[in-house]
Order: sequence, then C-alpha cells, then structure tokens
Amino acid sequence: MAVDEEWKKPVERRGRMTAVLALATLISAFGSSFQYGYNVAVINSPSLFMQQFYNRTYVERYGQPLEENFLTLLWSLSVSMYPLGGFFGSLMVAPLVNKLGRKGTLLFNNLFSIVPAVMMGVSEIVKSYEIIIVARFIVGICAGLSSNVVPMYLGELAPKNLRGALGIVPQLFITIGILSAQVLGIRNILGNSTGWPLMLGLTGIPALIELLLLPFFPESPRYMLIQRGDERTARKALQRLRGWDNVDAEILEMHLEDRSEKAEGHLSVLSLLSQRSLRWQLASIIIMNMGQQLSGVNAIYYYADSIYATAGVEQNDIQYVTVGTGAVNVFMTIAAVFIVEASGRRLLLLCGFGICCGGCVLLTVALNLQETVTWMPYISISCVIIYVIGHAIGPSPIPYVVTTEMFRQSARPAAFMVAGSVHWFSNFTVGLVFPFLERGLGPYSFIIFSFICLLTLVYIWLVVPETKNKTFLEVCQMFAKRNKVVIKLGDGDLSMKESDKGPEDIIRVAAF
Ligand SMILES: *[C@@H]1O[C@H](CO)[C@@H](O)[C@H](O)[C@H]1NC(C)=O
Repeated sequence: MAVDEEWKKPVERRGRMTAVLALATLISAFGSSFQYGYNVAVINSPSLFMQQFYNRTYVERYGQPLEENFLTLLWSLSVSMYPLGGFFGSLMVAPLVNKLGRKGTLLFNNLFSIVPAVMMGVSEIVKSYEIIIVARFIVGICAGLSSNVVPMYLGELAPKNLRGALGIVPQLFITIGILSAQVLGIRNILGNSTGWPLMLGLTGIPALIELLLLPFFPESPRYMLIQRGDERTARKALQRLRGWDNVDAEILEMHLEDRSEKAEGHLSVLSLLSQRSLRWQLASIIIMNMGQQLSGVNAIYYYADSIYATAGVEQNDIQYVTVGTGAVNVFMTIAAVFIVEASGRRLLLLCGFGICCGGCVLLTVALNLQETVTWMPYISISCVIIYVIGHAIGPSPIPYVVTTEMFRQSARPAAFMVAGSVHWFSNFTVGLVFPFLERGLGPYSFIIFSFICLLTLVYIWLVVPETKNKTFLEVCQMFAKRNKVVIKLGDGDLSMKESDKGPEDIIRVAAF
C-alpha cells in the first residue's frame, strides 16, 4: 500500500552526478579550497630556514644581526598576515559575488593567489622579507574569499539531493591542502634551506590550473537567472550540469525561491545587531567562533614543529609526526560529517571543547615532566592528536551548522558575515600572539588555551540549547526568556519555519 502511494506521487527528478558537475566541483575545490589549507600549513616546516633568511637579509642590509624579539615579531607577522587578509577577504565576498558572479569571483580570486605566489617565490632572490609578509596578506584575501565562495558556487550548481555531499568537498580539500603542505615540508622534499621559496610559490599552480580550466564550466545558474535575469544562459548551464534537456521545473523553482526570499527581505548586519529577539543567538555564535579559534587549533598548524620541538620530539621525527597529525585531521573531517549528522549539536560541542581542554591540560603536564621520563614526548604527541580529534568532532564543524540553524534565511547572510569576521579575526590574534606566548610562558602557554576551552564550554552548557531538528521559531522560543521577549506561536513567523530547512544546510567544517 505505502509503496503504491509513493509510486503515484509526482516524482521529483533526482539529480545525478554528471561529469560536468563532478569536474567543476573538483576544479574549484582544488583551485581554491586546497590552496586555502596549503597556505595554513606551508610556513610551519620551513620556518627555521626562513627565519635564517630574515636574519641574513637584515645583516646584509644593516650590518648587524636581528634582535630576537624583532625576529619573533617579523615571524609572527608573516604567519598572521594570512588570517588578517582572510578577514578582509571575507568582507569582500558580498560585493564581488554579486558583481562578477560565483565563477567569476573564483576566477578573479586567482589573481590573489598567483601574484603572491610569484612574490613569495622570488623573495629570496630579491632579498626581501617584507615581500613575504605582504604576499601572505594577499594570499589571505584569497583564502577569505574562497572559504565563502566555493561552498556558495557548489551549493548553487548541485541538484538538491547532492548538495549535502558536495558541501563536504571544499572542507575535505582544505584538510588535504594542509596535509600536502606538511608532506612537501619534509626535509628531503622542500622543507630545507633551498626549497622553501619554491614551496611557498607552489600555491600558484592550483590557481593557474583553475584559471585555465574553470572558464569551460558553467556559471551558477541561479546567479544567471536571478541576478542577471538571463534565463537562456541559466537554462543552458542547467542542461549541461544535469545532463538532460528539460529543466523547466528547476527554473520555476528558482523563481519561486527568489520570490519568497525577496518577500522576506534581508537583514543588514546593523539591524541584526539591534534585533532584541536574536541577541543571545548572536552572542552565542560570536562566542562559539571565538572559542573555535582562540582554543588554539591553528597554533597547532602554524607552529606545529616548534610545539613538537618544545615537547622534546627528535628533530628528525618532527616532520613525520606533523604529517601524521595532518592525516588524522583529514580522516576525522570525513568521520565528523557522519557524527554531526547523527548526534546532537550541543553534546558534540560540549564533548569537543571538553576533550580539547583536557588535551591542553595534559600537554602542559607532559611538557613540564619532559625531563623526567624518556617516553614523555610520546605522551605529548598523543595529547596533540587527542586535541585534533576533539576539535574535529565539535568546535570545528558545529559553529557553522548552528549558525545555519539559529537564523532564518533573511538574517543568515548578516549572521555569517559576523561569524566570518569573528572567525578570521580570532585566527589572526592566535597567529600573532602565540610565538610571544610560547616564549614568555613556555610549557604553560597551553593552559591559556585550555582555559578558553573551559570558558566556552561553560557558556555553551549554560546558554546554547540543542538546535538539531528545531525550527527557527522553536529556537527563538528557547532563547525568548533570555532575550526578554515574548514569542507567540502563530504570529506569521510560523509559516516560514519549514522553508528554512533543507538539504542545502550543508556541513562545512570551518576551523581553519
Ligand atoms: C642572526 O645571525 C647572527 C649571525 O650572523 C647570529 O649571531 C644571531 O644570533 C642571529 N640572530 C637570531 C635572532 O637568530
């Protein structure tokens, strides 16, 4: 009986993975997301050789060696200009994607990769470390743009039933990018005194490939139809992407979606900040994003080698341990997708931050006892790996998911704008401050991270409700008392509650 009824329903045609769709996904993820991860980890392995280059250059110019403090400052600037660029890049997303289109922005964005790649590649020849610092800023802009535009582009290319699956691809390529930089950073490959300029410059290659190949793939049909009003091109793009000719249903659906979104309007960031009924939701996503970054996850990728050296790991083994951490990260990113879908958000956040907090405390203890037992470095390595796993199941993926669930369509762009800037700015802070922290506090620097994890955990425990399978209005009600507003069921908001949800609520593990 039930089967019969299913049969009679007008069947929505399920999109399939066509060659055009698969290739467009791979090219944009490799050309943009991969680079983003690559540049996170690329400065870790050759840091010693690059610092020697800074010192040498300084001596040649001014006839005296670099002061220790000034070198630390130059180095932490070289690291943290990247997330600072990411901050500005994420602010440029909205104007660019509307002017140039999604594919257009990705193509334009390659400029922000190829130019700094050349700059970093020639920095040693022209004897300038300033060039590296500036180039890191520009390549950061590239990352800030691609972290937002790739998921948007893929989300608009994919048929509904594949959106969730394709949403994982950018994140996967970010972690693969990190791993690739760690592998290339092995001393015998490029992580040595002569290989590093090439290693830094290699980031231009994926950009070049994308620049050459992506023009042959379609622009987002949704962009062509809604923003450009060009139905013919949109239709052609859809036909190529779906592999069939009749795309009327999907064109109609886009028109309908557009109309309902227009009716709902868009909140600006300012009006989002002044919405009383959304105040604690906003505070929650800000604190979760700060917690995600200030918990030090990127310190581990930016400065892994120096952390392992402090932990007493043999100089020659460090590179392999670093690669191992990267591999665990790739693996956990794949696993996290299934875990996140299956379990509640709140539980995972609490567990994740708890594990990270514990990992940092144990690491501090291990670093302090390092001199006493020979096998202590192994404990330290385990602590870092536990930390990476803890971060991958909760703090990395969930803030993004929760942001989607706490705000409805009209407020989401503004909410993501706030979340994105907090994310990049906190990332920048950690990159800048960690080397000084490490020099000043030594083994105790991780206590700060564990304290931040603990604070975030307590906040989530007290304030953040479970949002899985909740409608926007239900979330609003759970926050109503705290926000000091009264939400009446059935006041018109209700009609929109389901339109918020859908397979397009993709999961992106936005930790980096
Ligand atoms: C810079 O190099 C000189 C030797 O040329 C060395 O004495 C000095 O310690 C180095 N400075 C730093 C901060 O490594």
